[in-house]
Amino acid sequence: MALGSFVLLLSLLGVLGLGDPGPLEDVVIDRYYIPKICLREVQMGDFIRYHYNGTFKDGKKFDSSYDRGATVAGVVGVGRLITGMDRGLQGMCVNERRHLIVPPHLGYGSIGVAGLIPPDATLYFDVVMLDIWNKNDKLQITTLSKPEHCNRTVENSDFVRYHYNGTLLDGTPFDSSYSKDSTYDTYVGTGWLIKGMDQGLLGMCAGEKRSIIIPPFLAYGEKGYGTVIPPQASLVFSVLLVDFHNPKDGVFLEHLEVPESCKRRAVTGDFVRYHYNGTLMDGTLFDSSYSRNHTYNTYIGKGYIIPGMDQGLQGVCMGERRRVVIPPHLAYGENGAGDKIPGSAVLIFDVHVIDFHNPADPVEMETVYRPEGCNITTRNRDFVRYHYNCSLLDGTKLFSSHDYGSPQEVTLGTNKVIEGLNRGLLDMCAGERRVLIVPPHLGHGESGARGVPGSAVLRFEVELISMEEGVPEGYLFIWHGDPPENLYEQMDLNKDGQIPADEVPKPRGGLVGCGRMRGARGAHPWGQHPKDAADPKHLGALGRKNAQAWSIAAGNGEQRGWGSGGSLFSCPCCCLEQSSIPIPSHPIPIPIPSPSHPIPIPSLLPPAVLHLHPDPSGRREGAPHAQLRPRQSHRRHVQEPGPQPGREDHGRGAEAEVG
Ligand SMILES: *[C@@H]1O[C@H](CO)[C@@H](O)[C@H](O)[C@H]1NC(C)=O
Ligand SMILES: *[C@@H]1O[C@H](CO)[C@@H](O)[C@H](O)[C@H]1NC(C)=O
Ligand SMILES: *[C@@H]1O[C@H](CO)[C@@H](O)[C@H](O)[C@H]1NC(C)=O
Ligand SMILES: *[C@@H]1O[C@H](CO)[C@@H](O)[C@H](O)[C@H]1NC(C)=O
Ligand SMILES: *[C@@H]1O[C@H](CO)[C@@H](O)[C@H](O)[C@H]1NC(C)=O
Ligand SMILES: *[C@@H]1O[C@H](CO)[C@@H](O)[C@H](O)[C@H]1NC(C)=O
Ligand SMILES: *[C@@H]1O[C@H](CO)[C@@H](O)[C@H](O)[C@H]1NC(C)=O
Repeated sequence: MALGSFVLLLSLLGVLGLGDPGPLEDVVIDRYYIPKICLREVQMGDFIRYHYNGTFKDGKKFDSSYDRGATVAGVVGVGRLITGMDRGLQGMCVNERRHLIVPPHLGYGSIGVAGLIPPDATLYFDVVMLDIWNKNDKLQITTLSKPEHCNRTVENSDFVRYHYNGTLLDGTPFDSSYSKDSTYDTYVGTGWLIKGMDQGLLGMCAGEKRSIIIPPFLAYGEKGYGTVIPPQASLVFSVLLVDFHNPKDGVFLEHLEVPESCKRRAVTGDFVRYHYNGTLMDGTLFDSSYSRNHTYNTYIGKGYIIPGMDQGLQGVCMGERRRVVIPPHLAYGENGAGDKIPGSAVLIFDVHVIDFHNPADPVEMETVYRPEGCNITTRNRDFVRYHYNCSLLDGTKLFSSHDYGSPQEVTLGTNKVIEGLNRGLLDMCAGERRVLIVPPHLGHGESGARGVPGSAVLRFEVELISMEEGVPEGYLFIWHGDPPENLYEQMDLNKDGQIPADEVPKPRGGLVGCGRMRGARGAHPWGQHPKDAADPKHLGALGRKNAQAWSIAAGNGEQRGWGSGGSLFSCPCCCLEQSSIPIPSHPIPIPIPSPSHPIPIPSLLPPAVLHLHPDPSGRREGAPHAQLRPRQSHRRHVQEPGPQPGREDHGRGAEAEVG
């Protein structure tokens, strides 16, 4: 190299020039620019890089590093430069500028350099120092900022994503990750990087910012790199570690808040409803269920969500808050997802589990109080009065009968309340209290209901206030014992072939003595609307039936409207007036006449009374981490070590998803 030989020439000639007398005793040094910050001064034996202009007294240029378009690199103070330079460069700082006047005896002496420097020439140099290093140098690492919490730091073989600004020692920028709009992503300590970076990144926390000064022998050495890193250049990297993980990492869990009582933990196949905030390691929020006002609902362990979440949700309790840290190979891999999740990103999910269930779950019942001597219990078709509180499992109150002032009423087994509540009200005795956990397939299903989120598990507190034994489905009342002959005619008091409202047995009145006849109770909506119940027009239909129609109706099963809508009797023991009818000895059902026109069903059903959803409530959704991404075939370009100025797309080759 021309430069090297020139330096050699200078030093060779310098030695030859010693002893020649000159106008000056020593080098004259004018430090005309000294930078404010001077971390280091040139010492004997240091390697330096500098630019210079050399002129004679008359200002005529005899040499300049600028003309060669390259800085000069060399060792100082070991006689390889002319003595005047060896002395004149001592103590310089990086970026310092000096004007040196070198007398001939410290320059090229009485001989000069043929064709270039005449004998006995005094030389004038303008020098700017660019780089100083020493073979004994080590990496200089300065932590610029560090997050408070840092319980894991970069180790060898970790995969890191970092931003950097790279400059030469004099501040000349040569490369920056920011210019590429993407972090630099690579393995540490495995030779992908220049040695200085492999060492300098060790021990960093996510979010830490460091300055790393790398001597050339731990960087690009004598060759430099392309046009931007000169030979023998020290490099200064300002590094911000964005995230890192190890390809061997699994899902990392932090149990932030586990409820005291946790009867059950989620397992594969459970359907979990949870809220989450998803952030990157640097704290950037990439997704949140809260922004949709809706829990994220999914089966776990079934591959509907990224593997890391499938694993990370195992064993959660209802109400638990958990942090799930997922390495990219268990998340979105080297490609990332959308424009929010970069390739090879570690994802941090802060999860709040609202509830979960299994599609095979029954109603979970816990008896809180059961009165002594409880031997009469509820069965389907019984008419019950009960109080209830209904809430979600996170404690959100939904509905309460206490808000209505009077207990809820329902005929069990008539599809008037959700199946789970109906089941939970069976086998109860008056005064009993229970807590019911109702899974959505026995509740409001996957679409939910007014105020009830889809797929929500419900918690009921119920107290049975009273019960009345019911009549079988399709019957208006049953007669205890053999029914009297011509019952219809007996009920048809005025013998006009109809049984209008005023002939229907009344509460506390009746055809016969107490205990002969048990009427069907309407479903509880009537209880909510006593006015409707009392309105005789709803009973009118009965009056237009004759005895024959009545018995026909008994056979064709059309009586459901009556069974569910009519509230003909409001006492369990309806006393019929006509005492001439003998007391029957065994119960015989009397069919309910089918109505000649539909009976209006009150539109204001209480919220707990909604249609049934036989299907289990699972569903998949479209939030980012719900999609299973095909695993990318592992790409690994052969990559030159270190940040590579001037090369596009250099970071993506080394991907964390090995194996
Ligand atoms: C050398 O000369 C060039 C051209 O005149 C100038 O740009 C440069 O700053 C000079 N270098 C020094 C160290 O004075
Ligand atoms: C990491 O630090 C956080 C916050 O200090 C702490 O909650 C967590 O348990 C720590 N994790 C480990 C593995 O030490
Ligand atoms: C890199 O330089 C840019 C622009 O000056 C600055 O915003 C950024 O914080 C620097 N990054 C690092 C890691 O020093
Ligand atoms: C969520 O609810 C808030 C407050 O009720 C509302 O302002 C916002 O628009 C809702 N967002 C969505 C996505 O529904
Ligand atoms: C998600 O972030 C919001 C807003 O900071 C916070 O209120 C909520 O508790 C967070 N949820 C979880 C599960 O961490
Ligand atoms: C329950 O049955 C027992 C014995 O069969 C009887 O002594 C008791 O009175 C009954 N209790 C009620 C509330 O009917
Ligand atoms: C419903 O909640 C109220 C208030 O907490 C309570 O007084 C009442 O006993 C509850 N009802 C039932 C049926 O548990």
